[in-house]
Amino acid sequence: MTIDDILGRAPVVPVLIIEDMAHAVPLGRALVAGGLTVLEVTLRTPVAMDCIERMAGEIEDAVVGAGTVLSSATRLAVAHVGGQFCVSPGLIGGESADGPIPLLPGVATATELMAGLDMGFTRFKLFPANVAGGVEALKAFASPFAQAKFCPTGGVNAKNAADYLALPNVVCVGGSWVAPPDAVRAGDWGRITELAREAAALRV
Ligand code: 3PG
Repeated sequence: MTIDDILGRAPVVPVLIIEDMAHAVPLGRALVAGGLTVLEVTLRTPVAMDCIERMAGEIEDAVVGAGTVLSSATRLAVAHVGGQFCVSPGLIGGESADGPIPLLPGVATATELMAGLDMGFTRFKLFPANVAGGVEALKAFASPFAQAKFCPTGGVNAKNAADYLALPNVVCVGGSWVAPPDAVRAGDWGRITELAREAAALRV
């Protein structure tokens, strides 16, 4: 699967912070039921790598990957447990678009974008989107960097996601709003499916 295959599956990539392994599969299934089939599990909790392995193995129709990937070794480790993609907040030194699984690197400036293009990437996470210039930055990047497309993430929510998705150089957005921590803690999967359904409908 290419990075474009993955980013083209749904308009919103849920950014998930999973504290309890028992939540992993029901949370993933709730999001998939709402139409969000690309799931980014951030490597910020002790159980995250195990969650990726379990979700990738058990949730049909989901493409499960890792977020907060900060090193080449971690990209390999994610591939090893069955993760299908990696997202990083920045550029990982020495990494390229070729690798065991697709990597979406983060950029926030024109210089970082140029470095990323030089490394062979053409798809980027704009991070943190809301402080890196948001919609206006993406409009400004469109002409000089016509080959680059983006998944803005960081401060994206139900209110502003459509503004990003309307841009020709945005393929999808990422965000945590579709999996509110209180709903996850309470096991309120119905609410999460509803949020996912609204997010999945953002693409016209
Ligand atoms: C993150 O790394 O936490 C993501 O960028 C998600 O940001 P958000 O919580 O603002 O959606």
